[in-house]
Amino acid sequence: MGALQPKGTTRETVLEELTAFTGKDINWRTGKVLTGLYDPGENAHDLAVETYSRFLPQNALYVNMYPSIGKLERDVVASIADLLRADDDVVGNMTSGGTESILMAVKTARDWARVNHPQISEPEMVLPVTAHPAFIKAAHYFGVRAIQSAVDLHEYRADLDSFEKALGPNTIIAVGSAPNFSHGSIDPITEMAALAKERGILFHVDGCVGGIYLSIMRRMGENVRDFDFSVPGVTSISADLHKYGYTPKNASVILYRNQDLRRYAWFVCSSTTEYVVINATTQSSRTGGPIAAAWAILRFMGEEGFQNIIRRSQEATRLMLDGIVKIEGIAVLGSPDMCMFTIASDDFNVFEIDDEMRLRGWHMIPQFACAGSPPNLHVSLTQANVPHVELFIKDLEEVVESLHRNGPGVDCKEMSRIVNEVSGKPVEEVMMAIIPIIGLTGLDLPEQMGPLNTILNLLPAGLRDELLTLFFNMTG
Ligand SMILES: Cc1ncc(COP(=O)(O)O)c(C=O)c1O
Repeated sequence: MGALQPKGTTRETVLEELTAFTGKDINWRTGKVLTGLYDPGENAHDLAVETYSRFLPQNALYVNMYPSIGKLERDVVASIADLLRADDDVVGNMTSGGTESILMAVKTARDWARVNHPQISEPEMVLPVTAHPAFIKAAHYFGVRAIQSAVDLHEYRADLDSFEKALGPNTIIAVGSAPNFSHGSIDPITEMAALAKERGILFHVDGCVGGIYLSIMRRMGENVRDFDFSVPGVTSISADLHKYGYTPKNASVILYRNQDLRRYAWFVCSSTTEYVVINATTQSSRTGGPIAAAWAILRFMGEEGFQNIIRRSQEATRLMLDGIVKIEGIAVLGSPDMCMFTIASDDFNVFEIDDEMRLRGWHMIPQFACAGSPPNLHVSLTQANVPHVELFIKDLEEVVESLHRNGPGVDCKEMSRIVNEVSGKPVEEVMMAIIPIIGLTGLDLPEQMGPLNTILNLLPAGLRDELLTLFFNMTG
């Protein structure tokens, strides 16, 4: 659009233009999107759209003007707290997503430590390498040093020895995941939280992706490792509604063990000429849409609705895992605790598998090698994928078989040679060296991501981050 047009246009034109822009977007309704999309099904989706738009104009900052939003938020928080076996002392708020909930947990910990551990001037957070990058972001934003501990490479759960060794005199908060996004495994939360408690520090459980799902699974009688407020030492939990709560983005909950801890979440300011700002979240003005839609979906589904989804998803996950292990040359990493897992291979370049599967309409998330975890493709299965499991296995079999027959398309040796050649050079030079070999012609990412992902996977993480910053800063 460029500059603002002098005159407006018709509703029809606006909608046509928008539709045209989506030409290159993936079709989210195919049931073949295996990550980042939580489609609750048509009826629930329609209800979410209706409730979201009905509460869209309301500003959740002004609960005095819109008491309905305050009530909806309290109801949602209470439902999630109940699932997470909270007692009456637990309090919380809705945020815009997992990242904001995690930011609030770390900001709260930092301010809590300033009062409760005033001798610590350089606060630290200990977290397994499988913890979400949002914690590293929070550490970066709030001046906390992040110390990553190892995971055991059989189950991809936090290695307790490594975790314990990483806890030091400056640690103010430690973190575990239930489960981690990358491998879908729950950390040994009971043991980790006990170590944190012994030291008088905080312990956050990242239940962003699994908090709701795993709690309902447990209530269905499944054997789920403990991770919630029933575990002594757990002081805060994040749980996203906009993932396996199947509600529209942006909706998450951050829960604190009690009001004494949540005190440090607040930001209140009455020292300007402006209105008084009172926030327990990083956002101030925010739409009531996600809050109302989350309330509506919880109410519409009830526990039974979620149980039905979880039963079908767990069954589909079992079928998928069984199908994958039968395909020679690929494997599933670790022991996933819910409907999320990763596919790795000693024999094939997984990023080529990803490209071929994408041509068949499947969307997974490529993940790079890190701390002993090999490069892999992540799958988060949802209820929308359930009817398509057999087709997924068939396509995966065919793709692996064709790679076996035809050999690799990406020359990994050549990629390694280039990476060695550029090592130690400034990031701009690295960029110039790799552009020709990854098929980058303009500012768009290449259609075939295999070569780019292969080379990114070979780079050290620090350089990779610099390179991606440079690229997106140029193109974004
Ligand atoms: C375990 C976990 N924590 C945090 C996040 C961040 O959530 P969001 O993308 O809503 O900010 C995710 C996202 O996938 C996640 O899986």
